[in-house]
Amino acid sequence: MPGTIRLRPAAGSDAAALSAIHNAQGVATTASYELRPGTVAQRAEWLARHRREGFPVLVAIDEDDQVVGFAAYDRFRELPGYDLTVEHSVYVAPGHEHEGIGLMLMTELIDQARRAGLHAMVGVVDAGNRASLAFHERLGFTNHGVLPQVGRKFGRWLDVAMLVRLLDDPPTAR
Ligand SMILES: CC(C)(COP(=O)(O)OP(=O)(O)OC[C@H]1O[C@@H](n2cnc3c(N)ncnc32)[C@H](O)[C@@H]1OP(=O)(O)O)[C@@H](O)C(=O)NCCC(=O)NCCS
Repeated sequence: MPGTIRLRPAAGSDAAALSAIHNAQGVATTASYELRPGTVAQRAEWLARHRREGFPVLVAIDEDDQVVGFAAYDRFRELPGYDLTVEHSVYVAPGHEHEGIGLMLMTELIDQARRAGLHAMVGVVDAGNRASLAFHERLGFTNHGVLPQVGRKFGRWLDVAMLVRLLDDPPTAR
């Protein structure tokens, strides 16, 4: 576990940092199927919507007070039968991967989801993202299958893995 990292809820003033991390680690790669870089205003609205709907956004802060990662969850699908299931996202800043920051963020996010009375957390992960698949397995997510060619980015088809973690056991990383 990284000793100098702390977690806190995101503030509106974090929008620029979150936007930069997502553009670098998600939009510029196949980790996210977003095709165009997001603006700071769009990320601010995303933060405001999570706040309105009571969904947490956690940020990881280093010793220089820089945001080095974030994790959040949102509804999985709109229909009310899915009310107790959420879909999460997690991004660590470039140059800070594999330092334990993602594990810190997700362990706390899973704990908050459990305390909120939710039942399942879904990760929709690009099937070629080996680091993310290993990361989620370490967190107790189970891969329930791959949907072939449901995404298209950088001129090629992308397969997506459907990962689920039920929330009725403790959030300790396995
Ligand atoms: C995927 C991501 C969130 C993981 O967070 P992280 O802080 O880098 O990962 P951690 O250091 O907490 O790693 C925890 C465990 O995950 C696995 N893991 C993490 N990175 C890995 C890699 N590059 N290769 C293989 N396993 C990896 C390991 O099991 C690791 O445990 P270990 O340190 O004992 O080996 C982060 O690397 C990231 O943001 N990547 C780019 C964007 C992305 O893919 N986001 C996820 C979208 S679904």
